[in-house]
Amino acid sequence: MRSAIVDLLAGKAAENSPVDVRGWVRTRRDAKGFSFLEINDGSCLANVQVVADESLPTYESAVKGANTGAAVAVRGRLVASKGGGQKWEIAAEEVTLLGQADAESYPLQKKRHSDEFLREIAHLRARTNKFGAIFRLRSHCSWAVHDFFRQRGFFYVHTPIITGSDCEGAGEMFKVTTLPQGQTGHAEDFFGKEAGLTVSGQLEAETLALALGKVYTFGPTFRAENSNTPRHAAEFWMIEPEMAFADLADNMALAEDLIKFVVRYILDKARDDLALFDKFVEPGLFARLENLLADSYARVPYEEAVDILKKSGQKFEYKPEWGIDLQTEHERHLCEVHFKKPVIVHDYPSNIKPFYMRLSDDGRTVAAMDVLVPKVGELVGGSQREERLEVLTRRMEESGMDLESYWWYLDSRRFGTAPHAGFGLGFERLLMLVTGVANIRDVIPFPRTPKNLEF
Ligand code: 4AD
Ligand code: MG
Repeated sequence: MRSAIVDLLAGKAAENSPVDVRGWVRTRRDAKGFSFLEINDGSCLANVQVVADESLPTYESAVKGANTGAAVAVRGRLVASKGGGQKWEIAAEEVTLLGQADAESYPLQKKRHSDEFLREIAHLRARTNKFGAIFRLRSHCSWAVHDFFRQRGFFYVHTPIITGSDCEGAGEMFKVTTLPQGQTGHAEDFFGKEAGLTVSGQLEAETLALALGKVYTFGPTFRAENSNTPRHAAEFWMIEPEMAFADLADNMALAEDLIKFVVRYILDKARDDLALFDKFVEPGLFARLENLLADSYARVPYEEAVDILKKSGQKFEYKPEWGIDLQTEHERHLCEVHFKKPVIVHDYPSNIKPFYMRLSDDGRTVAAMDVLVPKVGELVGGSQREERLEVLTRRMEESGMDLESYWWYLDSRRFGTAPHAGFGLGFERLLMLVTGVANIRDVIPFPRTPKNLEF
């Protein structure tokens, strides 16, 4: 039976038990009469040390031939390690070289490489300690999200990736077409109408919430935002819960609970990987994660948030004023300097938010909420939805939308409309929050950003 290194080192096998490990050589050291191979199989951060004696039949060909990066299969026995590092090592009885890695051209030699360099070899960077840990954490966080919603009775729904409706109305949709270049006219196109990649599954999720009660999506989202920032990607994953019979306060509570659940989950299940970030990426990360759990998040109306910014004495590039959208510098000031914890800003001016958010009685604000977190800024954007047909119709008209193509969305307000609320949480930004990684390009295996489509 093949053994994963994570299980071996966790002590799931007894001394002298036979093991069969397959992985990639991180380093090889030759001594007199034997060699040490450090093997990593991706199951965890740690390598296992293999001791290969020169009496092995494949010693010259497989062991002494194995370069850094080579794939090997090792059969042997688990023995107590004589060195300082680990409890166990493997006394090899058979070593097979599965795939050599050319010593001259293999780019991942044993030294620290810059994140920029590693982005150019994204197809190999998961073999480094840091990126292996990031992508394992990405998996853990995904499971945490699903666990969270399942425990709370939410159904996982799949909203379309190709869509005809621009949910955010911000004109950031990538077009999907089969027409030859230069040809226009939607009638001849594949769908017979304008199509694009979804910027949000919200509108469809709303109709599902108004049938199933509580739903969430978790899938890829696309935005042709031409902003080359460390926080924006053209393709990212979003988690979008939607709840019927819920208001803004329920929505805020759900977002806070979700973030805390994920943090607790990885502190529990992925401490070793997190320790790498605490050590090399952001010293003090564990303390910051504990801080995300410690307290309830601040809740401030937009109006008050703007006042805080105005009175802060801080010089901002964009002057804070009622009616402006908060910039990252404002968001970070609120949670990093003023509150020193996540902040939920709510009730934004209606003119800076999309049509679907519920309008207040005086029409000045909408029931919007953004969750702002240290290091990242905006992690979550959501709202209570406008459930009143007349108000919604008016808002859509004012936004210059083509009401006819949203007939199905408006139907949800014609037939059994009900108060409901939901939000979108950017999954990559969540990963940045929990790892301290500062660039979104480094938490997604193959990032898509303006002028960048390698791999
Ligand atoms: O605030 P946004 O635009 O909200 C919506 O799309 C709503 N329809 C969601 C809903 O209510 N169901 O996006 C939600 C979150 C942001 O807070 C941010 O974390 C992330 O999605 N996000 C991005 N992440 C990476 N790259 C981008 N270009 C992103 N744009 C938004
Ligand atoms: Mg937003």
